[in-house]
Amino acid sequence: MHASTRPPAPTHFDTAARDWDQRPMSQQMAAIAPRLLAAVPLAATDHVLDFGAGTGLLAAQIAPLVAQVTALDTSAAMLQVLTEKGHANITALQGDIFALPPGTLAPQDAIVSAMALHHVADTAALLRAFAALLRPGGRVALVDLYAEDGSFHGDNAAKGVHHLGFAPAALQALAEQAGLCDVALTEILQVQQRNGRHYPLFLMTGRKP
Ligand SMILES: C[S@@+](CC[C@H](N)C(=O)[O-])C[C@H]1O[C@@H](n2cnc3c(N)ncnc32)[C@H](O)[C@@H]1O
Repeated sequence: MHASTRPPAPTHFDTAARDWDQRPMSQQMAAIAPRLLAAVPLAATDHVLDFGAGTGLLAAQIAPLVAQVTALDTSAAMLQVLTEKGHANITALQGDIFALPPGTLAPQDAIVSAMALHHVADTAALLRAFAALLRPGGRVALVDLYAEDGSFHGDNAAKGVHHLGFAPAALQALAEQAGLCDVALTEILQVQQRNGRHYPLFLMTGRKP
């Protein structure tokens, strides 16, 4: 068979999708949404992009408060679990943020994300993509790991981990270089991994001028 005709190999997320919400880690991550929303209040008219939305742990808590959530993810299996939840104002969009045809999304009022940044190799390009998708005045609210020693996932390569968390000053600089302003990082939550260790998560907020 020619390589291009082979279906893509399932990713870690395709394989993990069905049980994703039952993982103890996912249950701890449920605390992210209320804390994120307290820091970045959203309006009932807002159109929000959830980058790397997965099964919609974050999107499902945001959707009742806004007009529309677009749940973008490369994993069809993760999005299938989200779609089965039947939220009327969440649109599942399968694709890579770097390969969206121009005009796929109208300018967004906000972009949120939980635990997806460390799965993208080129953070600078990702932040530029976020800036390009926001309307002027639109905000980002991005949650991920502070720099860690690789023990959070353990099998980093198998899980598609490109960054062992992030150093705040370096990430803030990339966000500012991407054209965002009022960029700030703060600890939002600590989660306990199966290895018994606690890992702090940051919330990075910022705004497109
Ligand atoms: C750790 S999961 C987090 C899912 C969800 N936000 C949560 O908190 O449960 C990361 C997600 O990012 C998605 N992802 C990784 N790279 C992506 C890309 N370039 N474009 C869109 N989604 C991506 C993966 O498929 C995966 O579902």
